[in-house]
Amino acid sequence: MFNRLFGKKVNKKRNDEHKGLVEDEHVPSHIAIIMDGNGRWAKKRAMPRVKGHHEGMNTVKKITRHANKLGVKVLTLYAFSTENWKRPKTEVEFLMNLPGQFLHSFLPELMELNIRVQMIGDHTQLPNHTQKALHTAMEQTKQNTGLILNFAMNYGSRDEMVRAMKQMIQEVTEGKLRMEDITEESVSDYLMTADLPEPDLLIRTSGEVRLSNFMLWQLAYTEFWFTDVLWPDFDEVCLQQAIDGYKNRNRRYGGLKGEEVN
Ligand code: FPP
Repeated sequence: MFNRLFGKKVNKKRNDEHKGLVEDEHVPSHIAIIMDGNGRWAKKRAMPRVKGHHEGMNTVKKITRHANKLGVKVLTLYAFSTENWKRPKTEVEFLMNLPGQFLHSFLPELMELNIRVQMIGDHTQLPNHTQKALHTAMEQTKQNTGLILNFAMNYGSRDEMVRAMKQMIQEVTEGKLRMEDITEESVSDYLMTADLPEPDLLIRTSGEVRLSNFMLWQLAYTEFWFTDVLWPDFDEVCLQQAIDGYKNRNRRYGGLKGEEVN
């Protein structure tokens, strides 16, 4: 797993601290976003697709600042999926340059805002310069205690689950893990999100209504918000609308609320 590959042991205490960190119960602690529609945004303007990705990067900055201001604890952004390698080589190269560009221009502000950068996904398949940019940002911001800006890069939920299964089977085989100790809670500890709370709110932009192999385990009880707005056009008002929508939902986790019993 990414955490283990970087030699960072999953910090259970941090996980528990996060689970209790809900200052304003109306603001989702963890927002996950499938940032979609960059290509269509560019096409509408007769621009190359990569221009849409560049504009999408600016939206990432805007939404990070706003989420931080609202007191969101974790913002997970689906920046590159395990399937995105199928795109044209030039587009993939452009996308692989974005973390470097983003962090080069934004790292001082991330430090000022006390934001910590993290990543989920298999970093080993990323080009060296992309790995280096992400690793440097993670190292430099690791003492920051505010918002966690979590990039999903070369991330696929099925890939994550297969890795978790293999790890668990290996530990069972080696006698380090007992079958009877495998529970929903313990499986979560083998995922790349082990040190994070589950998302409260998932947003997908651009009118597509599917999960595209994103956090399938972690989204079991998450509220979904789909919008037709293309990612480069997504702004503070759009985020507020999604949060307002979330506030009006009645999260029951499969049970009933007090007033509904009887
Ligand atoms: C999907 O839109 C978007 C992506 C595959 C890339 C998302 C990346 C960013 C928004 C920038 C990330 C920034 C950093 C700092 C890593 P699409 O290209 O599939 O759009 P389309 O469906 O309209 O073609």
